[in-house]
Amino acid sequence: MAAVAPEHAIGVFDSGVGGLTVLKALLRELPGENFIYLGDTARLPYGTKSPTTVVRYALAAAEALMALRLKCLVIACNTASAVALAQVRARVVSVPVIGVIEPGAEAACASSSSGHIAVIGTEGTIRGGAYQEAIRRRRPQAQVAAAAAPLFVALAEEDLCEGPIAAAVAHHYLDPLLAGAPRTDTLVLGCTHFPMLRRAIEQAVGPGLAIVDSAQTTAGAVRCTLAQAGILAPAGMPHGRLRLLATDAPQRFAQIGARFLERRIAAEDVEAIDL
Ligand code: DGL
Repeated sequence: MAAVAPEHAIGVFDSGVGGLTVLKALLRELPGENFIYLGDTARLPYGTKSPTTVVRYALAAAEALMALRLKCLVIACNTASAVALAQVRARVVSVPVIGVIEPGAEAACASSSSGHIAVIGTEGTIRGGAYQEAIRRRRPQAQVAAAAAPLFVALAEEDLCEGPIAAAVAHHYLDPLLAGAPRTDTLVLGCTHFPMLRRAIEQAVGPGLAIVDSAQTTAGAVRCTLAQAGILAPAGMPHGRLRLLATDAPQRFAQIGARFLERRIAAEDVEAIDL
């Protein structure tokens, strides 16, 4: 890591706009850092693809970002973190690579008193079992119930985060999950899009269930990793620069992404990139 310097950017990639929920947490945690975010909108969704395909896409995105002088790479996409973290780490050896699953599992274990934890994510994330495994590694007695909730991705992008449709879909996925795991006290939102539906999810599960969103713990993990490597941006730096890249439809990325990032994104601020 000799060539890595504090002023280099933190690269963040996702299958599309969803990872902007993770970027939002990173910007809040590390305001002095420079960030380059890549949304692979041409290949979205990753959540329904086979592991082989997701690994291929993730490696291509990681390589494109690594060409831009990074000091750290964050895989904001839960599906890519679940399926391709080891392969990306094997390919990108010059900077730390951080996924969202381990910080999410850490937060879930810290939150749960009963040790009964539920996880929702995309088909690919749930099928691969990465959250279940990461939770049980930390807490071997944990009971983990998991379900795919793919419609939440479309609802978040369609701006149907609240109201009767969101409520019906939340009950559709969560009622059977929790009926089969009645002692659950913690629910992990294991997908970049799900924090957008947090209110509908909270209303469906009722009070008494802690909701864990891995974005904040991932931002903490990135800070810790940079601090340990001595490559945090110097304290007191003014706001860092943010570059946004998308592999397709920059205008749509800007329009939908603004809601996820909770800040205005001009279409001309999104650079088109081919992988
Ligand atoms: N970013 C993906 C994830 O967090 C959700 C969208 C997709 O399926 O690509 O798993």
